[in-house]
Amino acid sequence: MIILGIETSCDDTAAALIEEKNSKILILKNIIYSQSEIHKKYGGIVPEVAAREHVETIIPVIKEATEDFFKKEKRTNKNHKIDAIAVTSGPGLATSLHVGVETAKSLSLAWEIPIIGVNHIEGHIYSVLLPYSKLKNSAKNNKIKFPAIALIVSGGHTELIMIKKEGHYSLLGRTRDDAAGEAFDKSAKMLGLSYPGGPIISKLAEKGNPYAFKIPRPMIERKDFELSFSGMKNAIRLLIQKSSNLQKENTSLKEGAVKDMCASIEQAIVDVLVSKSIRAVSKYKPKTFIVAGGVSANKKLRKSLENRIPRSAEFLYPKTEYCMDNAAMIAVAALKRAKNKNFDKPEKISANSNWELV
Ligand code: KG4
Ligand code: ZN
Repeated sequence: MIILGIETSCDDTAAALIEEKNSKILILKNIIYSQSEIHKKYGGIVPEVAAREHVETIIPVIKEATEDFFKKEKRTNKNHKIDAIAVTSGPGLATSLHVGVETAKSLSLAWEIPIIGVNHIEGHIYSVLLPYSKLKNSAKNNKIKFPAIALIVSGGHTELIMIKKEGHYSLLGRTRDDAAGEAFDKSAKMLGLSYPGGPIISKLAEKGNPYAFKIPRPMIERKDFELSFSGMKNAIRLLIQKSSNLQKENTSLKEGAVKDMCASIEQAIVDVLVSKSIRAVSKYKPKTFIVAGGVSANKKLRKSLENRIPRSAEFLYPKTEYCMDNAAMIAVAALKRAKNKNFDKPEKISANSNWELV
């Protein structure tokens, strides 16, 4: 079974070719054209710019993902075709989604290959099935055992999802305002750092004191699974202002203080996410606990979850390169549907920017 994945929900143009062989998933090609250098100038994603970039790069990216496969197919005369095209059809930026969806539909009609519309969040969940996504000591084949709980943490989403059985999702709780990735990105902006802020803050945090600044952990005491990051953001803004004034520079923090601030921000965000995750696992006792999405690349978050999530749940997370948006996760999320020949009609798929998984 060979699936071509296409992902353009935000600011990455991505295409991947995956193969399932003897119950193993192989990544034949995983191409990602990141626009972050372009959006850096604006300190965040500009939807109109993102869509235009997708239009220009989608065909070269798909070509790169498929050309070796097609060459080999011709050479060996095996007639070993792509079995399905999986495309992110929501949620995300409407104008960005359209580019991937319409391209996938055209290819589906022209190549006569069936198409499957995939939810982006479901893609992140299934990213743990891509190679090397398991802990050293976990079972040999990556497998999500149900019931499972997934913590999805990205630039646009922060939610705890219960997966009772395959394809049955319900929401335990989500952020009421900013996403965790957004909290990293906006904090970085306030500190005069570049975009995306998460990896930059995390790097600087390595040499800082995580308790140097007192940053609130909103809603951490609440017994439910709701989260909030906007209060934290405001507190960070005030702390940065106060510390800059104290340094009598009035402009920016000194290097040491920036590192301490980054470490304190990271610690506060991680504390909230870990505390809510432990609460969810303790209450619902799932067989698997998953963390996925861009912020799951954060080492401190992974380590804390690894150390503190009750052992009754197997802990799965994606290999770092599959944490951020990619098309391999979209292809793997479509695998089961492809096997069951549960395809969509090309004329029925459209970009749905608000597609709720739950
Ligand atoms: O999943 P993703 O690529 O895109 C969305 O679907 O939003 O996630 C991007 C987010 C950004 O906010 C970025 O700052 C954050 O993931 N991120 C990180 C790290 N790497 C990426 N946040 C914290 N620590 C990291 N190492
Ligand atoms: Zn994402």
